[in-house]
Amino acid sequence: MEFSGKVALITGGANGIGRAAGLGFAQRGARVVLVDRDAQAGEAAAGVIRQQGGEAHFVAADVTRSGEVAAYVQAALDACGAIDCFFNNAGIEGAVTPTAEYEEAMFDAVIGVNLKGVFLGLRHVLPVMLRQGSGAVVNTASVAGLVGTPGMPAYAASKHAVIGLTKVAAGEVARHGVRVNAVCPGPVDTRMIHALEAQLDPADPAGVGRRYQAALPSGRYSTPEDVANLVLFLCSDLASNITGAQYVVDGGRTAIGGSVAAAAR
Ligand SMILES: NC(=O)c1ccc[n+]([C@@H]2O[C@H](COP(=O)([O-])OP(=O)(O)OC[C@H]3O[C@@H](n4cnc5c(N)ncnc54)[C@H](O)[C@@H]3O)[C@@H](O)[C@H]2O)c1
Repeated sequence: MEFSGKVALITGGANGIGRAAGLGFAQRGARVVLVDRDAQAGEAAAGVIRQQGGEAHFVAADVTRSGEVAAYVQAALDACGAIDCFFNNAGIEGAVTPTAEYEEAMFDAVIGVNLKGVFLGLRHVLPVMLRQGSGAVVNTASVAGLVGTPGMPAYAASKHAVIGLTKVAAGEVARHGVRVNAVCPGPVDTRMIHALEAQLDPADPAGVGRRYQAALPSGRYSTPEDVANLVLFLCSDLASNITGAQYVVDGGRTAIGGSVAAAAR
């Protein structure tokens, strides 16, 4: 897992899993370009990488806007000259509401970031990697891309679709030296999981967290680094014949079926 001389581009890189991946890539020698709509946290994350002796650039962009996606890809090329690794990761959770009551505008917003944003990332980064004749992409799906998640219709649909996009793109570019995989995190200790806890029980979000973690085979949420480590592996030469695949990092959540989310309620 050595990335000296490589360039890693990461969306949702300001916080959570994307930030951990940025730090991980940089600690292993990569030059890093962080993209996020949260400019304050993005600049701070890039600053931490530079304090640790790494090279990091931050580009403010909304991944749902194709002009801004084209601009973040161009900014990465202007700053670093190549894109070797692309962690296509920005996402939002949306509301926890049954399908029968789910707001149309919320549905569009979740699909906009989690599906269209991932598509636009592929649409603008794959041509660069095809020109290079090399590259590795990891899209962030979720265990909600593998199993139904009651109360999260837009999120689950978007993450199932990310796995579909991953398989299609992987088949298209495999003969050109470009790999495309997906990671499927279970619950991860970031802002997102705590926001979901608060939606499930505004009066006692910490209680939701305790029950959810107790129901997981591993007994704990993943850390952002647990997911980042898998992303680094999939982007590394150790994974050179792995493409079109999806990997869970979930402490055993999907292995034991649907009882876990119910236990948190
Ligand atoms: N935390 C979990 O339990 C969990 C589980 C499975 C999958 N995931 C997925 O992991 C990814 C990262 O989430 P996280 O847990 O680190 O959450 P997070 O909220 O800490 O980080 C998400 C980042 O994406 C950015 N972002 C959101 N919308 C954006 C947009 N339109 N344009 C640019 N940036 C945008 C946010 O500003 C934030 O920095 C997401 O795709 C999420 O769906 C998270």
